[in-house]
Amino acid sequence: TRQIKLAVIPGDGIGPEVITEANKVLDAVLVGTDVAIERTHFSLGAARYLETGDTLTDEDLDAIKQNDVILLGAVGGAPGDPRLANANIERGLLLKLRFSLDHYANVRPSILLPGESSPLSNPGDVDFVVVREGTEGPYVGNGGAIRAGTPHEIANEVSINTAHGVDRVVRYAFELAQSRPAKKLTLVHKTNVLVFAGALWKRHVDAVAAQYPDVTVDYLHVDAATIFLVTDPARFDVIVTDNLFGDILTDLAGAISGGIGLAASGNINPDGDFPSMFEPVHGSAPDIAGQQKADPSAAILSVAMMLDHLGLPEQAAQIRDAVAADVAERNGQASRTSEIGDRIAQRITASVTQRA
Ligand code: NAD
Ligand code: IPM
Ligand code: MN
Repeated sequence: TRQIKLAVIPGDGIGPEVITEANKVLDAVLVGTDVAIERTHFSLGAARYLETGDTLTDEDLDAIKQNDVILLGAVGGAPGDPRLANANIERGLLLKLRFSLDHYANVRPSILLPGESSPLSNPGDVDFVVVREGTEGPYVGNGGAIRAGTPHEIANEVSINTAHGVDRVVRYAFELAQSRPAKKLTLVHKTNVLVFAGALWKRHVDAVAAQYPDVTVDYLHVDAATIFLVTDPARFDVIVTDNLFGDILTDLAGAISGGIGLAASGNINPDGDFPSMFEPVHGSAPDIAGQQKADPSAAILSVAMMLDHLGLPEQAAQIRDAVAADVAERNGQASRTSEIGDRIAQRITASVTQRA
């Protein structure tokens, strides 16, 4: 048997609800294989902070590093909760994980499944991946405020872009583009205003492009990219962009391709120095938490990405097929979170039994 060590961080809000279903589906797809999952559960997030004052201790981080992969639900309390005013769970936990584990390729696919309703009247064949830089940009925490709270306050939040950081994520995106049928890469930035970072990104894309002659390359300013994501999303194949633009574009990408409840992601450390982390794109959704209203499909599809990463493409495909079949049968009807997980797990069990 192959033993896989999995760190599970359900987190806050709908996080535990969708992770329960993701684990259910993971168990179903591994029945009859020689893969055994050894889970370690980490209770981290707003609830833990309120109890202990900790967000992510060095001990937690060390223990998480002992695993092969990480599955995370979502973290963060309700925006504006006064008890969390000084917590910053997002930076102290989620971003700390991404930065400490060098998750420089934040990979966020968007596929409009057959039978899925889109808010776009004529979406076309939507199948693209945003490769969002994960360890730099305005997310690094290089900021501060002076004269805070006065009319003379000066606040800054510096975007860091290093040649090393840009080059490695650009190379990752080109490799991905080359492996896909359309072989197209779009750099999204704002080079007309953010001239220094923009020039660095553009230069690295141009340089790496020379090594991938079969990949078609183009460029869009981020504002124009939001237009085309709505009017012609089928034009995109691989988008490479910085941390903040990638965050914004991928919520939009989720919304146009079946909804945020279907958007999966992987925080990848391609060099294999640290465990990669898989999580839905969405957050803890305090507005629907605890009501079994969340769609667990994004978390379940994140498990499929995790299995691909672990070199188990057959099991990953079984999950994707089961989700696609379930989506095709939903007809826009809402179901309880656990019912969706049950249906997808049962579908996998049935197809595996049939094949055996
Ligand atoms: P959100 O993604 O949690 O919610 C936005 C909207 O989408 C809400 O109306 C919510 O109900 C809906 N939604 C989200 N996931 C859904 C699902 N699976 N099924 C159905 N509907 C779903 O974004 P937000 O409200 O801006 O953030 C809430 C909290 O989550 C904040 O604390 C934020 O910082 C945090 N957050 C965490 C992550 C993460 O852990 N990766 C990501 C984004 C936001
Ligand atoms: C995401 C989230 C995070 C981000 C927040 C919660 C720090 O929005 O994963 O998209 O901005 O990366
Ligand atoms: Mn986001």
